[in-house]
Amino acid sequence: MTHSETVEKINRLKKEKNAIILAHYYTRPEIQDVADYLGDSLGLSKMAGETDADIIVFCGVHFMAETASIISPNKKVLSPAPDAGCSLAESVTGYDLKKWKDANPDGIIVSYVNTTADVKAYTDYCCTSSNAINVVKSLPEDRKILFVPDKNLGAHIMRVTGREMELWQGDCCVHEKITSSVIEDALGKYQDADILIHPEANCSHDEKTLADDRTFFYSTAGIINHARKSGKQRFVIATEIETIHKLKKDNPEKEFIPITEKTICAQMKKITLEKLLHTLETEEGEVKVPEEIRKKAMLPIERMLSL
Ligand code: 13P
Ligand code: SF4
Repeated sequence: MTHSETVEKINRLKKEKNAIILAHYYTRPEIQDVADYLGDSLGLSKMAGETDADIIVFCGVHFMAETASIISPNKKVLSPAPDAGCSLAESVTGYDLKKWKDANPDGIIVSYVNTTADVKAYTDYCCTSSNAINVVKSLPEDRKILFVPDKNLGAHIMRVTGREMELWQGDCCVHEKITSSVIEDALGKYQDADILIHPEANCSHDEKTLADDRTFFYSTAGIINHARKSGKQRFVIATEIETIHKLKKDNPEKEFIPITEKTICAQMKKITLEKLLHTLETEEGEVKVPEEIRKKAMLPIERMLSL
């Protein structure tokens, strides 16, 4: 089947089945192009709650499809790659978090959305990289905060808010490659460019990196927003490389340079156009959370979405 025949079939099936395709910015360009909605973790969660489609085909890693299923339990949530994992989500289990919580009965648990439903079930507040700072700022000053699982995002939040938190020691295997020395090289090499950095990056709490007036920390959607609004012509993109597809589409006259060629999330790339078509044809790959866990996991998500 040719590329255009595959796309045509996907579009036809989507209409017939009243399905919507949601895709994260880190998926392959051809997946981004066929999506009804392209977004970051926060945007995708919101869209999963708002859509009136009967089927959500979620093009993202497993925890994202799971979050959509928690938010929209009456919809069929399908994943074209149910085996697409995430190093952050895999770094902490519900059992680990329960033990941590039991040892700190006064602590408030804040979990990054990159976690399993089991972990969310033991969580007080969920957050994404778009709203993490606001979530932490909204918490009572006299309470201890336990943050899971991303140590880099956690350290970044501590720097920006001035709040102390205890951090789980997880990391994203992709953003971990973005070190302060890589940023320093880019600052020297591209003197006219802004450096747009995801807070999962290894350098997100490095004082020198934070102090430079050409470095900006944003979620993926924030990076896209900055590039659109800025009068600058050149940007170094310090997040997953496929974000550049959307950036170039939105700003054909501007230049986007990947911080390294290594920031590739192999898990997101498991979703291909062929798998997407197969999912729509067969309705295989349903992601569902047991109701008891779902109800508990929904509470911290609701708190996050209501902020
Ligand atoms: P955002 O989509 O919130 O920017 O998070 C990035 C990420 O790593 C998702 O897995
Ligand atoms: Fe997980 Fe990192 Fe891939 Fe995002 S980029 S899905 S945090 S491994």
